Amino acid sequence: MRTTRRGFIQKTAAATIATAAFPAYLKASTVPPSDQVNVALIGCRNMGFGILKHHLNLRGVNCVALCDVDQRVLNEKAAEIKRNYKQSPKLYGDFRKLLENKDVDAVIVGTPDHWHCLPTIYALQAGKDVYVEKPLANSITECNLIVQAAKRYNKQLVQVGQQQRSGGHWNKIHQLIADGKLGKLRKVNVWGNFNYGIGQPIQADTPVPEGVDFDFWLGPAPKRSFNPTRFHGSWRMFWDYGGGLVTDWGVHLLDMAFWPSKTVAPPKTIMASGGNLSFADHAHETFDTMSVIFQLDDYAVTWEHTAGTENGPWDQSYGLAFVGDLGTILADRSGFKVLPEWDNQRKLDKTPPLELDSHGENHAQHVENFVQCIRDRKSPVCSPEIGRAAAIAAHSANIAIRSGAGMLHWDEQTNRFTNSELANNYLTPNYRTPWKLPEI
Ligand SMILES: NC(=O)c1ccc[n+]([C@@H]2O[C@H](COP(=O)([O-])OP(=O)(O)OC[C@H]3O[C@@H](n4cnc5c(N)ncnc54)[C@H](O)[C@@H]3O)[C@@H](O)[C@H]2O)c1
Repeated sequence: MRTTRRGFIQKTAAATIATAAFPAYLKASTVPPSDQVNVALIGCRNMGFGILKHHLNLRGVNCVALCDVDQRVLNEKAAEIKRNYKQSPKLYGDFRKLLENKDVDAVIVGTPDHWHCLPTIYALQAGKDVYVEKPLANSITECNLIVQAAKRYNKQLVQVGQQQRSGGHWNKIHQLIADGKLGKLRKVNVWGNFNYGIGQPIQADTPVPEGVDFDFWLGPAPKRSFNPTRFHGSWRMFWDYGGGLVTDWGVHLLDMAFWPSKTVAPPKTIMASGGNLSFADHAHETFDTMSVIFQLDDYAVTWEHTAGTENGPWDQSYGLAFVGDLGTILADRSGFKVLPEWDNQRKLDKTPPLELDSHGENHAQHVENFVQCIRDRKSPVCSPEIGRAAAIAAHSANIAIRSGAGMLHWDEQTNRFTNSELANNYLTPNYRTPWKLPEI
């Protein structure tokens, strides 16, 4: 691995030094030094750390660096890595310094959404492969920049954390639809109702917790005083850092709904209604209620959420229903069912019924795909283009409501909405000095 980027002698020397820190089971493994993969994590608290652990469960993968702007998180996670994996990564508070570390082959970007763009692009520029969490970025322009950067620095690989792409039952659904088992696909209904989407009960601002570099946490987002309801985890419900349920859960499920389409492009037309209709005692700016229709080339996708409730269609809080002429596929992370239409003349199902259980999450397989691609220098299954299409769709739905346009037409050539200049005002965030949108 990596013979294109580094000389073999240099790699062998680095690997020999690193071997001293390997746990016994890795030393005993048959992974040669040239196939060792050294990963670093930026943003350690929750998902990023989970993804890191999936890396470390693979043979020959080592954690050489951790970065977080919360010292307590950093220390806790470093201690866990030492305890469970017998490794001692270097610790950083500034990801730019981590990216100077020549031992790092690949970085995992597990920061909040407003902090995806810069670490991802700087990492590519520093010659690292990147596993970036979804949504690809917190604005349409940042998504475009990541795609451009991935094309320009194309010796490096990018895997976007839409792990369903690596899921066996999701691939099976995709194949069934491609094989025509539903007949003509007409519509995909998607929904995601979750309590967390209303945020936390409102609280007054507080002093910044000890050990937190809050100015760095805010980064390119506007300066403001500290409030625990818009910090770890709960940032999702504030426009400066996230996009609410439709960008959080939505991108995962919308990606599955768009997958049968022939192109990897955002929907051409987006119609959305909704707003903040309830839970005024909870801190959130992103919409607690949304109904969206995305028009693709030859079928439509709908998205529904009512945050703060967990009932949903088919008695499921979230899911997808792929509706075709011959039947419907009802799916979630635990599996799927084919529900055939009934042929009343021939007295039989129009398509074979089928039910498949799955093990739920597909993070492990998605990470495995990334690591295998690092070794083989092949493209991972979830490209920045795929991440961009889902993220732009979700952002467009929010923008349709925020701008008051209601319906938006997306022009893939100009990367703008054609029918609303008010909506175009939401394409690009105003980065706070000294942070600048990268030039590719
Ligand atoms: N793929 C999935 O299923 C899935 C699930 C959950 C979260 N996610 C994504 O993972 C990302 C992180 O979500 P989370 O729930 O772990 O958030 P979190 O708030 O729990 O953790 C984010 C961490 O990043 C750190 N951080 C913030 N700015 C930083 C910076 N500039 N440099 C270094 N560290 C910084 C924070 O201090 C915190 O420790 C989000 O993009 C989210 O959408 C994906």
